[in-house]
Amino acid sequence: MSTVLNLTQATHRGRTKFRLQQFEQRKAERDKIVMVTAYDSTSARLAELAGVDVILVGDSVAMVCLGHETTLPVTLEEMLHHSKAVSRGARTPFLVGDLPFLSYHGTPEDAVQSAGRFLKEAGMDGVKLEGGSERIPAVRAMVSAGIPVMGHLGLTPQKVRQLGGFRPQARTAEAAKILLQDAKLLQDAGVFSLVLESVPEEVAQRVTEELVIPTIGIGAGLHCDGQVLVWHDLLGLTEGFRPPFAKAYCQLGQEVIGGLERFRDEVREGSFPAPAHTRQMDSDELLKFQEESQSC
Ligand code: KIV
Repeated sequence: MSTVLNLTQATHRGRTKFRLQQFEQRKAERDKIVMVTAYDSTSARLAELAGVDVILVGDSVAMVCLGHETTLPVTLEEMLHHSKAVSRGARTPFLVGDLPFLSYHGTPEDAVQSAGRFLKEAGMDGVKLEGGSERIPAVRAMVSAGIPVMGHLGLTPQKVRQLGGFRPQARTAEAAKILLQDAKLLQDAGVFSLVLESVPEEVAQRVTEELVIPTIGIGAGLHCDGQVLVWHDLLGLTEGFRPPFAKAYCQLGQEVIGGLERFRDEVREGSFPAPAHTRQMDSDELLKFQEESQSC
């Protein structure tokens, strides 16, 4: 049995499920919400063991796992596939599935159908969508169907083509005002929390102060009610460009390369597998095998 399988048997250390009602409670108590993305069962389990409150199965999976340059190509079926794996791995964090590009842009009923699948088929506790005033009918329809919805404003990667790249947002007074208005509209429509991505700290602070629901920041400064990072950035698994706000807490990529290099060397020099990794045949059976296989 591998270490990964052993980990899946570990207890969740007496923790209880993070419930929807706790989002506002945490904000009121100034108790920060910790969210991380995850895309598979093992990672979800590790996040749970680390005491993370919320796991987002982000559409960033398109870029960090599936090799795409943007989040646009990932499909609803792919998002459900990853979400199912995550819900099999973690029980106590609140699980949010990210609605992919074009899965909620048609009628509000279409949005409910897409979002509903995350709860019905994939074991998610809620969904996230990007956008402001233009998404209010979809948000209302989902909320009235009983689907918890998380909003996402600022840098909304599904609009990367319109934005002209992954650029910081809400940098002018006008853009900041629109973001604040959108945040209030989303709250009124029933979202339970709001991701603010790549916006100035002052804007995130103002939005956070004005809302009853918690804000969860990524590249939005210290005043948000919680923080989120992408799994691969947080663990130092990202190659090439990483946005300045994406702090790496360890260098797992280097560790992984080191392990693979040691495996490569031991295979090539013949020191792996050692006796400890090898199973020997029972001596009687071996004798029998040698005798009986003469005629083969
Ligand atoms: O898809 C994602 O990972 C996200 C986070 C950056 C919030 O939307």
